[in-house]
Amino acid sequence: MRRPRAHALSERIGAIGALDGPAHAIDGLLCKLLPPGPVKNALSGSWLGHALHPLLTDVPVGTWTSATLLDVLGGEAGRPAARRLIGIGLLAAAPTAWTGWSDWSDGQAGNDHQRRIGLVHAIANGSAAALYGASLVARRRGAHTAGVLLGIAGAGAVGAAGWLGGDLVFARGIGVDQTVFGEGPADWTPALDASMLADGRPTSATVGAVEVLLVRRDGTIHALADRCSHRGGPLHEGDLVDGCIQCPWHGSLFRLEDGSLERGPAAYPQPVFDARERDGRVEIRARRTR
Ligand code: FES
Repeated sequence: MRRPRAHALSERIGAIGALDGPAHAIDGLLCKLLPPGPVKNALSGSWLGHALHPLLTDVPVGTWTSATLLDVLGGEAGRPAARRLIGIGLLAAAPTAWTGWSDWSDGQAGNDHQRRIGLVHAIANGSAAALYGASLVARRRGAHTAGVLLGIAGAGAVGAAGWLGGDLVFARGIGVDQTVFGEGPADWTPALDASMLADGRPTSATVGAVEVLLVRRDGTIHALADRCSHRGGPLHEGDLVDGCIQCPWHGSLFRLEDGSLERGPAAYPQPVFDARERDGRVEIRARRTR
């Protein structure tokens, strides 16, 4: 089957190696500006239990698109509202961009393809903000037609940015909960020979299609999805910290007992399984409400 054109175009963008220089420079800066901690948690949506960037994008996209529709359909009566909408979108653009940069800097290690597409997405959004900003200035100076044309160009830029953002999420799975399809077995299923699970050493096992993290600690066996909900990091390669497992990729902390999130940048908790030792084997099953 032939690849749909839109996807082929994003593939081409992802293959532009010339974007790597600026991408790595910006990434280095963001790593310094946004270390793991409260600011990073705030921007990622860890405090909310939902990725923040897609929530905030609604404001600039919605206001700017509405302003352009008013320009086209609203006549002279729509001009004041269009100006206000553009202004609101510009106010929301900065926090929205910060949440996007934060997410972008959490790309999967070595995945330059995604990083390049994300950078072009950001450039398109920045262009949209600049065009709508210029549109507002033109309107305030009385150059209404120029303002409308700049707004239409801005709508094109924001549409292109939205398409690339959608491609990153829907075609490449960036930002979605990476554990969403790993439910685990309904009944007790062997995961590992019990002798292979040393006390205090995170260990991975494959049960059906699910990668499971197993930790024996103080006589209790904990079992969580091994694939980090954030970007899919292998939790069994992480460290144990105060009753939590720390993801080796971006440092999210998940409580062993119930998979809850202690620290981001992950925004979603980690699925947890029931675990027991029977006849020399560690068995797991999808957690049931007791
Ligand atoms: S993959 Fe990012 S915190 Fe785990």
